[in-house]
Amino acid sequence: MNKVKAAVFASGTGSNFQAMMEDPALPCDIVRLVCDKPGAPVIGKAENYGLNTFVFSANDYENKATYEQEIVDVLRQDGIEWIFLAGYMRLLGETLLNQFEGKIVNIHPSLLPAFPGKDAVGQAYRAGVKVTGVTVHFVDEGMDTGPIIAQEAVRIYENDTVDSLHRRIQEVEHRLYPNVIKELLQK
Ligand code: GRF
Repeated sequence: MNKVKAAVFASGTGSNFQAMMEDPALPCDIVRLVCDKPGAPVIGKAENYGLNTFVFSANDYENKATYEQEIVDVLRQDGIEWIFLAGYMRLLGETLLNQFEGKIVNIHPSLLPAFPGKDAVGQAYRAGVKVTGVTVHFVDEGMDTGPIIAQEAVRIYENDTVDSLHRRIQEVEHRLYPNVIKELLQK
C-alpha cells in the first residue's frame, strides 16, 4: 500500500529530520526537503537518503508569496499532503497555510506558550525555570502559536548546562515527533 507523502522543512543540522527518516514505522514517505539556508548540514543528510531537495534564499525572491508559491508548486508535483517543520526558521505565509490547511506541523523546544521564538532552550535555562520541554503543534501565521498537539516535560537540574539540557530536549524531540506523526496520520 502506498503511504501518504510528506515534506520536511528544515534549515539546521537536521537531527529531527534524521529521526523521522530512521523510523521504519513512520506512516508516511518523506520525499522532499525544503530548506531556506543554502549550505545547511541537513541538505547533505537529505542527499544521503537520496531525497529531492528544494533549497532557496528568500533574498532571491520578490516576497514571501513568490517563494511560497514556488514551494507549493513543487510540493503539489510531488503529491505531498503533509508538511513537518523541524528547524525551519521562517514564519509561514498564507500561500502555504491556505494550500495545506491543517496539514502543517512544527516542533518547538519548550513548553509553549512559554519561550517561543529563537533559542528557546537558552531562554528557559536563563529564566531559571525548573521544567521545560518539547511541544508539537499545528502551524498558523504566528510565531509558535498554533494549536498544541502534544507536549512532554523535561526537568532542568542544578548541574545542567545549556548544552546538557539541549541534548536531553533533543532526545525527547526525536522520540516525540515521529510518535505524534503516527497518531496524526492514523486518525
Ligand atoms: C529543534 O530543536 C526544533 O525543536 C526547532 O529547531 C531545532 C531543529 O534541530 N524547531 P535539528 O536541526 O532537527 O537538529
